[in-house]
Amino acid sequence: MSEIYKRTHMCGELRLADEGKEVILNGWVAKQRSLGSLVFVDLRDKTGITQITFNEDIPEKLMEAAKSLRSEYSIGVKGIVHERSSKNGNIPTGEIEVFATDMIIYSSAETPPIYIKDDDNVDESLRLKYRYLDLRKNKMQRNLLFRHKVTKCARDYFDENGFVEVETPMLIKSTPEGARDYLVPSRVKQGSFYALPQSPQMFKQLLMVAGTDRYFQIVKCFRDEDLRADRQPEFTQIDLEMSYVDQDDVIEMQEGFLRKLMKELKDIDIETPFPRLTWTEAMERYGSDKPDTRFGIELVKLNDLVEDCDFAVFTNALKEGGDVRGICVPGGAEKYSRKKIDKLTEEAKHYGAKGLVWIKKENGEYNSSVKKFFTQEQLATIMDRLEASEGDMAFIVSDRKKVVFDTLGWLRRKIAGQLGMLDDNQFNFLWVVDFPMFEEDEEGNLKAMHHPFTQPKLDELYKLEDGNLLDLKADAYDIVLNGVELGGGSVRIHDKDLQAKMFEVLGLSDEECQEKFGFLIEAFKYGAPPHAGLAYGLDRMVMLLLGEKSIREVIAFPKNQNAECLVSEAPGVVDEKQLEELGIKVCTPEHE
Ligand code: AMO
Repeated sequence: MSEIYKRTHMCGELRLADEGKEVILNGWVAKQRSLGSLVFVDLRDKTGITQITFNEDIPEKLMEAAKSLRSEYSIGVKGIVHERSSKNGNIPTGEIEVFATDMIIYSSAETPPIYIKDDDNVDESLRLKYRYLDLRKNKMQRNLLFRHKVTKCARDYFDENGFVEVETPMLIKSTPEGARDYLVPSRVKQGSFYALPQSPQMFKQLLMVAGTDRYFQIVKCFRDEDLRADRQPEFTQIDLEMSYVDQDDVIEMQEGFLRKLMKELKDIDIETPFPRLTWTEAMERYGSDKPDTRFGIELVKLNDLVEDCDFAVFTNALKEGGDVRGICVPGGAEKYSRKKIDKLTEEAKHYGAKGLVWIKKENGEYNSSVKKFFTQEQLATIMDRLEASEGDMAFIVSDRKKVVFDTLGWLRRKIAGQLGMLDDNQFNFLWVVDFPMFEEDEEGNLKAMHHPFTQPKLDELYKLEDGNLLDLKADAYDIVLNGVELGGGSVRIHDKDLQAKMFEVLGLSDEECQEKFGFLIEAFKYGAPPHAGLAYGLDRMVMLLLGEKSIREVIAFPKNQNAECLVSEAPGVVDEKQLEELGIKVCTPEHE
């Protein structure tokens, strides 16, 4: 075993005030330059870089060792801090260098497969395969530290407010959260499976029945769903639940947390209370239940202006109960060429739109993809409704309401991105409230929009009886930041009769209810307190606060788009013996 230096400082820490001190640093060789009688080494640890200088005053053996250093060697250095003659303004330690007096080489290193440089834009799969090297980058270490501070801030805040962190089980029964479960086979009870929790939802409600009163947990959740930049199969929630509260109490508690978070981590005083939009208003104005309000470009309804027009696509959509809505892009006439419009139109098809109609106001005239169906006056009326000025452009979609909202909701944000209207340093928090209790799935079946334990608005319960189910609103709320759903929650049903009614409306038989949530229904027989809660997506929160574009940048070992861990190569095949013990026979073609 070679000796290990006890470091006195971190590499990013040294300043001119340390001049003359003897210091010990441990780290990796970021760069080595050998200039004959001088060797310079940039030594890196998680805090930054210090330049180490090996000069002719040192023993020959040490000089030889310095010359042998290569990138990513793990070393310890003893030396004296000196003021640098040629200062480097790019790094915080740029005013000093350390004249080495001794060194230990802990390990040599092969040439690393990726550059350890923040701006290295190598293929992401290589970064994920060699994540331990990728994480050596200053930016990645900064992200991990920032994430740690977010969780610490959450723990401090909820602790100060009487919340108790309680762990809930990871091997549970399938939960009704809506996504696909990750299943774990049981060995003891062959043929039975645990599910990994999509969230601790039912257990946190049991904790309320148990008297915990204010619960929180920073907890891993698992959902087998299609992956996107802000979705991972395993992600982390800051999860919480409170007894004897209503929606306003939960919201106020969260605003306190987010205020503290923004102050401590970003030094920003955010204003509370946050704006609240009803779900209906969010959809109508922004085409989204997670509106980005950093820019305008709101949706405008045009139905009445086009109901008698000659353009059958519009009139047919209206006849079928759909909508015609548009957005106005300031200065868009010049910025959107035919080619760019075609590209947007192609992408819009992913949201169900069959096309995008456009109108441009240029030189006092109206040009449009549908100009042969409209007079200049008609186009002017539409553009006036959209408050378009000279040089502006409108995009219009007509279809089923959902398609119109989805398409324009996506398009306004896409355009804002293209026109540089999304400021990462602006933080627009808002609440979306009054979500519908139910929605229809692809097959037209009724399902709970949040989950079946969400309390419907108590003054609208008559809608359960008169069949107006899609119109029934719930005490459910989402916290949205810059167009991303940061968290969501609801007031829960604590009345067992109302809960039974909800299950009935959702078409769940007694057996199904018993099978799926029997234990919760049973618990509610013994005095359930009124309760409500919320869960934040921690990864998304950290991503947004850091201005990152993907949650993979703020997770130490994330999965790739195929839900694989490229470091450990999970998922992998397992031994026949393991399968036998579990009573499992794999029947994919490779196993035949
Ligand atoms: P919900 O399903 O809305 O609510 O999840 C809460 C928050 O978790 C984050 N999130 C995700 N983050 C990364 N990858 C994913 N695959 C992913 N899925 C969700 C989002 C989301 O807002 N039990 C309820 C909460 C409650 O009612 O108290 C729940 O899980 O930021």
